Amino acid sequence: MQDPFKSSLFSSTPAIRRRAFLTRLLLSGLASACTNPLLATNRRIDPSYYTLLADPHIPADRLRQHNGVFMTTQLETVIKQVICQPRLPGGVIIAGDLAYSRAETEDYLQLANILQPLRSTGIAVHLALGNHDHRERFLHAIPWAFRPDRPRQDRCCTVVSSPHANWFLLDSLEETLSTPGLLGPKQLQWLASALDARRRKPAILVLHHHPDHTNPRAGLKDTEAFLEVLKPRPQVKACVFGHTHRWAHITDESGIHWINLPPTSYVFRPEYPIGWVEARVHTDGMILRLHCLDHRHTQHGQELHLTWRPARFSNFISSVSTDTEPKLPTPS
Ligand SMILES: [Fe+2]
Repeated sequence: MQDPFKSSLFSSTPAIRRRAFLTRLLLSGLASACTNPLLATNRRIDPSYYTLLADPHIPADRLRQHNGVFMTTQLETVIKQVICQPRLPGGVIIAGDLAYSRAETEDYLQLANILQPLRSTGIAVHLALGNHDHRERFLHAIPWAFRPDRPRQDRCCTVVSSPHANWFLLDSLEETLSTPGLLGPKQLQWLASALDARRRKPAILVLHHHPDHTNPRAGLKDTEAFLEVLKPRPQVKACVFGHTHRWAHITDESGIHWINLPPTSYVFRPEYPIGWVEARVHTDGMILRLHCLDHRHTQHGQELHLTWRPARFSNFISSVSTDTEPKLPTPS
């Protein structure tokens, strides 16, 4: 089985790398989506750059529409834009709700087809699960997504290492078609120990559901337990999620950044952006850039320059409550 977490391009020389990439791009039929100046650029994979997507909601039927959009076409457009950039990402992460609604096996087969151009170019693809996913059908239809020796057999979670950060992919799917999510005590226990084993590098967490203290909850049911793991560990710098189908960012009182990704599919209010987020991680933080599918959207090109909280806490953390809810949007 091919290792989804290794790019074949990493071990190539630059010249071979570029030639192999262009060959694969031409074979994949996406070359026509790129302009000649972009093809002429000496492109390479930047392992510190990740592309972040959420909520593609891919149906088996590529002609299926929802809220006036073709979900398959929109994800294909996003992937073309990612592939046609001058510099390619080390990885693409999709933060859940991969399938359309009931998460049928055929939805995942369609998704795998759409993602293939990314994998053909050597870009690693990492998939998280949401409430419109089904774990067993997902693993059956997309066997390259998670290795059999993943740290927990009952969840699709893992750690992806990059030069300036470890990306922790979490699985908050509790029940397909039930809106709220749950990480569960066992996955949280694994997360705590995995974070403790990686204290020296910044940690960025990715999951589908947002932290939520409302009642009844539409987001993460075990928000308090999740925050108890995150907040005392200074290596945790940011948490990325989808679920609400809107773009937002806040920094909580402990200094953790909470990033709500826009969907690639449909929005609940017409003024919200649809698109993807470019994340460039450096030693002290991360630069996020929003790419809207509609380039006329007022937020298209918006950049957020995030600075990491301190690597060591002194008395700072003792004043930070773990039950304070970040002020985040809820699903409409
Ligand atoms: Fe969704």
